[in-house]
Amino acid sequence: MDEPAGPRALEALATEDRRFPPPAGFADRAVVSDPGIYDRAERDLEGFWAEQARTLQWRKPFTKVLEWDLPYAKWFADGELNVAENCLDRHVLAGHGDRVAFHWEGEPGDSRRITYRELQDLTNRCANALKALGVRTGDRVAIYLPMIPELPAAMLACARIGAPFTVVFAGFSAEALASRIDDSEAKLLITADGGYRKGGIVPLKKNADDAAARARTIEHLLVVRRTKQAVPWTEGRDVWWHELVDAQSPECPAESLPAEHMLYLLYTSGTTATPKGIVHTTGGYLTGVATTHRTIFDLRAGDVYWCAADIGWVTGHSYIVFGPLANGATSVLYEGTPDFPDKDRWWQVIEKYKVSILYCAPTAIRTFMKWGAEHVAKHDLGSLRLLGSVGEPINPEAWLWYRKTIGGGRCPIVDTWWMTETGMILITPLPGLVTTKPGSATFPFPGVKVDVVDESGASVPLGGAGYLVIERPWPAMLRGIYKDDRRYRETYWSRFPGRFFAGDGAKRDAEGYLWLMGRVDDVMKISGHRISTTEVESALVSHPRVAEAAVIGREDLITGQAIFAFVTLRSGNEGSAALSLELREHVARSIGAIARPKTIMFTPDLPKTRSGKIMRRLLRDIANGVALGDTTTLADASVVEMIRSASGSGSED
Ligand code: PRX
Repeated sequence: MDEPAGPRALEALATEDRRFPPPAGFADRAVVSDPGIYDRAERDLEGFWAEQARTLQWRKPFTKVLEWDLPYAKWFADGELNVAENCLDRHVLAGHGDRVAFHWEGEPGDSRRITYRELQDLTNRCANALKALGVRTGDRVAIYLPMIPELPAAMLACARIGAPFTVVFAGFSAEALASRIDDSEAKLLITADGGYRKGGIVPLKKNADDAAARARTIEHLLVVRRTKQAVPWTEGRDVWWHELVDAQSPECPAESLPAEHMLYLLYTSGTTATPKGIVHTTGGYLTGVATTHRTIFDLRAGDVYWCAADIGWVTGHSYIVFGPLANGATSVLYEGTPDFPDKDRWWQVIEKYKVSILYCAPTAIRTFMKWGAEHVAKHDLGSLRLLGSVGEPINPEAWLWYRKTIGGGRCPIVDTWWMTETGMILITPLPGLVTTKPGSATFPFPGVKVDVVDESGASVPLGGAGYLVIERPWPAMLRGIYKDDRRYRETYWSRFPGRFFAGDGAKRDAEGYLWLMGRVDDVMKISGHRISTTEVESALVSHPRVAEAAVIGREDLITGQAIFAFVTLRSGNEGSAALSLELREHVARSIGAIARPKTIMFTPDLPKTRSGKIMRRLLRDIANGVALGDTTTLADASVVEMIRSASGSGSED
């Protein structure tokens, strides 16, 4: 296991002593203003979460709160509820049917305003369409859609009938989609003709066709018409959304489902080439995301909330769809990129919808810094009152820029640490209570207990750094890796027995503030996206001219890390700019554009230990220009010199 790397890690380690208490006018009116919440949750964890769970609507009330059979938790297990009913019907029945659920903004500039009643209607029609296509409670559905309203509606429709879904980010390739369909054994694939990206069209239907041809289980494709270009069509298998869904009844009873019924599977990268299907269930998950969304984002009447992530990632599941809708929030849903048609698009959206809460990733913030404050200055951002950050460490400089340039110096920042596996935010300030420090995610959420430990599992004293572990179960935690109990136990529970090993390095300062320092395993964070080094390596070696590859995340001032690949070619081949381009495209085709290496360096050999293991850490140090430590375990030390003298000759974008 390596120590964490990255410029943010190093910067965060430097003493950052500026501090920002909650502004007075903010704290007085905050959703949580009583610091006693921490003690209460600590004294009676189950009571705390039961109280939160009871704010939801249960078909059958639970009598049990937590059953902890390490490493599997059950929350509220004898209760029954329905997620879609909680996210939609409950609000409509309470008289909020006309409240806007989503202000949807399309990339080309079209927009739709969708009220809770309209979203309920769309969801129910979609749920009836699913049934018409033979989907029953327990069947899996794969969803491969752009950021259009049909995406949350499809997820809620699945939840309504109890069909676990798996959303595959629309930037993933056909191959990546096929492997997820195969693992989940989905029988239906919901997709679109295409998606807009920077003015161009991403051929989603074509990718979906390729994936469906490879995957064994797909019976039908349900296709939303978005971009309207001609698409290949398989009669009998493919069905247009506007033909089938629009013709359905807007009434569809919500299934009463056990709290531990699987809500969704979300595939994420681990340290092997095969993504793992993270299992999330119903009652605990909804309780966790609704509670954290309400309290951390300080949700008040009249707020317009915008989480700028993609629904294809866990952030979108928990904090665009389920948390906000369970809380009856009004959100912005934006289809496109920040620079289309121009670099001020986000600020234009904020001004247009009077967004009051913005939640995004540090990479976006650093990109805006690079583009310059003049794009921000074109718009009135006076509606903003709270800012959030997620997905990767935020360096103090970006934090301070975010606060001043976007937040006008008046908005608290919540830096929220969590993962696909945790389902909900676990480390974060509560904005009305906690004094923040730029770059620190501060403290665990009430009821959450973490520690920072050394190799032996011993707690590191304040001021020290080590591995982040989570000490007790939380309601939205994963319920395992789909069909892979062994990998679940090994990945999260064996390194420090009895404790959840997150895979992150962390430091706790003298006051106990937590500073997350990045991954300590073979997982990279590229623009906040999680990509495994081995996944990219296996894509590279699947190219006929590649003999061997070693991939590392190189520090990058904007994207946090960037993919750097050392490639050894099969004999008879020579490295060239053209081949480098070809290999980069090859990876983009096999996984998706987000995994395209930024740099390829051809090397005649790779440094290996005597037992033949590639020394990735050494390569990372070479790529990052870090002074090299001990290389005595190397089988052939001259390889390092050779690579070092050649480095810099890699080719990039
Ligand atoms: O390294 C941590 C980083 O993102 C990882 C989880 O990635 P993923 O499952 O894709 O979920 C991202 C969105 C929740 C973590 O292991 N990470 C996430 N949030 C933060 C963070 N690192 C530092 N600070 C954060 N606020």
